[in-house]
Amino acid sequence: MQLDVVTLFPDWFEWFRGQRHIANALRGGHELRTLNPRDHTTLSGGQVDDTPFGGGAGMVLRVDVMDAALRAFYNADPVDLRRERRVIALTPGGRVLDDAFVDELAAEPAVTLLCGRYEGFDERIVQHFCSDTLSIGRYVLAGGELAAMVVADAVLRKLPGSLGHADSAVEESFSAALGGNPEYPHYTRPAEYRGWGVPEVLLSGHHEEIRNWRRARSDERGASSGGTPLP
Ligand code: 6GU
Repeated sequence: MQLDVVTLFPDWFEWFRGQRHIANALRGGHELRTLNPRDHTTLSGGQVDDTPFGGGAGMVLRVDVMDAALRAFYNADPVDLRRERRVIALTPGGRVLDDAFVDELAAEPAVTLLCGRYEGFDERIVQHFCSDTLSIGRYVLAGGELAAMVVADAVLRKLPGSLGHADSAVEESFSAALGGNPEYPHYTRPAEYRGWGVPEVLLSGHHEEIRNWRRARSDERGASSGGTPLP
């Protein structure tokens, strides 16, 4: 996959690129590129945003600057770009990211993520250049960069070669293999610690029983929507 991030803070992604499963994915032939609109603005002082018409707080990313940046980078009119690749506006009010959306993106050969900053995008960027909107949850971040990393992390780890074990992403939380439920609990050595044991079945070696136990715990967790209940 070719994953491009349009951001005023490309250096944030240098650290991200070095993280193991990201680095593995990139070694495996996937790409994570950044594009800084500031490098393409024709306005003085590297201006990329402006005050909102109608008044109000904050600054809005300009449509002419985004047009110029995308046009220079892709050598195409951005209006046509969304027919060739998913172009996604990262915005708190967007389509909320879940496992199905991640799978959808993981199946794409090319995706572009637009990071909003300040109050976000001029709406014409979303209407004319984007195929989708995406939010990582109903709260507001100062910018789309962390959301872009969340998307990149979740998508790249689904692609072959980025995880240590081929099955790691198959039977995991929210996967079809677990009926969309959270994952079952895991245990490792020591089998007893401070008097806290491990479910006997996991030590039994009965693969069928272990499978049934895990599926039941996963179903249980799915039924209680507020996460694992704690004492
Ligand atoms: Cl994608 N962007 C911003 N700025 N805030 C968010 C978000 C995105 N998703 C949740 N909050």
